[in-house]
Amino acid sequence: MLKKPLIGVIIFAAFSIFLFTTCKQTKEPVVETCDNPLKTYNTHVKPIISAYCVVCHNPNGAYPSIPLTSYLEVKNAAQNGKLILSIKHENGAVAMPQGGAKLNDADISKIECWKTNGFPE
Ligand code: HEC
Repeated sequence: MLKKPLIGVIIFAAFSIFLFTTCKQTKEPVVETCDNPLKTYNTHVKPIISAYCVVCHNPNGAYPSIPLTSYLEVKNAAQNGKLILSIKHENGAVAMPQGGAKLNDADISKIECWKTNGFPE
């Protein structure tokens, strides 16, 4: 007489535990921050500069006096020059890329983070 309801309870409990553990296993989305993943020149900065800036900022381009073709050149422009101001279209620098659309916010923040973290190569 008592067996049937007991089996029902056991199945219900087992199923609840199964649901509970599968729910707990779903991972929290990783929140990207300035240093997670760490923004480096080779992985994050170089592809942006290559796509939008090097066409003019190279020894044979429209503006060879600020070349942006290597780690040291880009670091120098960001550390001692106006690179960050120019991509943010802020006062005190000519807006870049010249004649083109402003970089998107994600790309600008990658370059700013690169500076914040001391220009890792
Ligand atoms: C179409 C060619 C062209 C492109 C593309 C370009 N630049 Fe320039 N850049 C120039 C020229 C020309 C100047 C000089 C502007 C002036 O002095 O009026 C300049 C000046 C600069 C300066 C100095 C700004 C100042 O106020 O002294 C920086 C920094 C710079 N560019 C960075 C960049 C970056 C970073 C990119 C890519 C996001 C880029 N440029 C894309 C042509 C370009």
